[in-house]
Amino acid sequence: MGNLLKKHSGLRDVRFILAVGSGKGGVGKSTLCAMLSIALREAGYLVGILDLDFYGPNIGILLGAEKEKPLIEFGKIKPVIVKGIKILSLAFFTSEREGIFMRGPMAQSLIKELMEKTEWGPLDFLILDLPPGTGDIFLTVLDWISLDGFILITTAHKLSLSDAKRTLNLLRESNVPILGIVKNMSNLWEGEKEWESFLKEEKIPFLLSIPFIKNLSEKENLEALTQIPEIKEIFKTLGSKILEKIFRIH
Ligand SMILES: Nc1ncnc2c1ncn2[C@@H]1O[C@H](COP(=O)(O)OP(=O)(O)OP(=O)(O)O)[C@@H](O)[C@H]1O
Ligand SMILES: [Mg+2]
Repeated sequence: MGNLLKKHSGLRDVRFILAVGSGKGGVGKSTLCAMLSIALREAGYLVGILDLDFYGPNIGILLGAEKEKPLIEFGKIKPVIVKGIKILSLAFFTSEREGIFMRGPMAQSLIKELMEKTEWGPLDFLILDLPPGTGDIFLTVLDWISLDGFILITTAHKLSLSDAKRTLNLLRESNVPILGIVKNMSNLWEGEKEWESFLKEEKIPFLLSIPFIKNLSEKENLEALTQIPEIKEIFKTLGSKILEKIFRIH
């Protein structure tokens, strides 16, 4: 089904579809997606990002695209383009003051519609920002989209690791290629032993650690932070790790 959708939809000219997910909420998925999109752009690739967090869409804020509106023409959706990155987020269609009430089946048909109607054009990478957990949206993505790589992000806290395990099991059952795991806010929690045994038990490749970056939570617009050496270095490591994994797998 996934491949079928890829061939006949606005995804046909997309080379690799990557997804970023976690078991737990608030561990840095959207931040990582935004970082990865910038990192891959800086490495010379054409990048798109699709915010599938229907209940809390915020990719637009992280990439400085809050005021943008996508163009809808002849039933097709054109993503907005900010600094070379194509972006589509449900936030573009709603206002912050509106609560987003959407039940599972509605979310599912919306994903399918977005997949079919969005004209991404040629892209090297489309990055999917998933909502937390393994609910309807996560399962729909696994069913309908053939992912080329999944990046798991977590903090090293016990609860976050326990939720990450559940996500990993589902990914394995669905044969999704797992590129590896990112440890976020790594300096806030020193449970090194638990972390090491998690990696060993789960046999998941470790990609990189991202420390707590004060600037990041103060600004929330990553494009404004690309010149800070500490952050620039993280973008670079992240980009090269993912490229290395993707080109080794495919
Ligand atoms: N390494 C970091 N340093 C400082 N702040 C961070 C870091 N990573 C994430 N944050 C902050 O933590 C908050 C949550 O991050 P983010 O929204 O990316 O998480 P999420 O996993 O996408 O959340 P949700 O589950 O709600 O989608 C944001 O305010 C973000 O700026
Ligand atoms: Mg998010």
